[in-house]
Amino acid sequence: MPSYKINFEVSVISSIISFVGLAFAACPDPTVNGFATGTTGGGGAAAVTVTTAADLIANAKASGSKVIVVKGTITANAAITATSNKTIRGIDENATIIGGFDIRDQANIIIKNLNIHVVGSVDGIASGTSTKIWYDHLNIWDASDGLLDTTLGSGYQTVSWCKFWYSSSSLDHRLASLLSSWGGSSNGPEDEGKLHVTYHHN
Ligand SMILES: *[C@@H]1O[C@H](CO)[C@@H](O)[C@H](O)[C@H]1NC(C)=O
Ligand SMILES: *[C@@H]1O[C@H](CO)[C@@H](O)[C@H](O)[C@H]1NC(C)=O
Repeated sequence: MPSYKINFEVSVISSIISFVGLAFAACPDPTVNGFATGTTGGGGAAAVTVTTAADLIANAKASGSKVIVVKGTITANAAITATSNKTIRGIDENATIIGGFDIRDQANIIIKNLNIHVVGSVDGIASGTSTKIWYDHLNIWDASDGLLDTTLGSGYQTVSWCKFWYSSSSLDHRLASLLSSWGGSSNGPEDEGKLHVTYHHN
């Protein structure tokens, strides 16, 4: 998208959000497909609307099925832990999280329709040893490490209609989406036969 070429200023971030936000509405809203097929997230649980970091953090890590609707801009300035059987979605194109998500040893999660400005978290969204995750219609930018990383034998995930970018070439680690575990002496043997991830329309 053209915004890769724009030298963003912090002062225009809100207009960028509304620009990319419009793209949410213009794209189709498909049901889950690809390797994440079967992912239901919070399913038919009653929706809980959150407007504060404390409520988002508490609901995202709570046990059980939850549909969490993000309204407005929530400043967490940290990676938010998301657990199994959750849907976390924006209420409209302006729903924004300042922070990121961390998913460890979990399954069945949908994260969609969100702007994620990565501040205070190393990765935008990181999942390890986690399966059945659908990432859809996300705008993720400016992580100091990956924007969306899938590691440690995770799999059965779909990444659809997401936009990834870095606003400045001064960010020294501009690697958008890692699909594998780190190298080093082990070279990620836990990934063998795993890491089934569909990427489409990103
Ligand atoms: C997620 O929901 C499924 C289906 O209701 C249930 O079998 C499973 O135990 C739940 N997982 C967790 C970690 O709560
Ligand atoms: C999103 O924010 C923009 C800019 O403030 C505003 O014009 C627009 O109406 C908002 N959209 C919604 C659905 O509130």
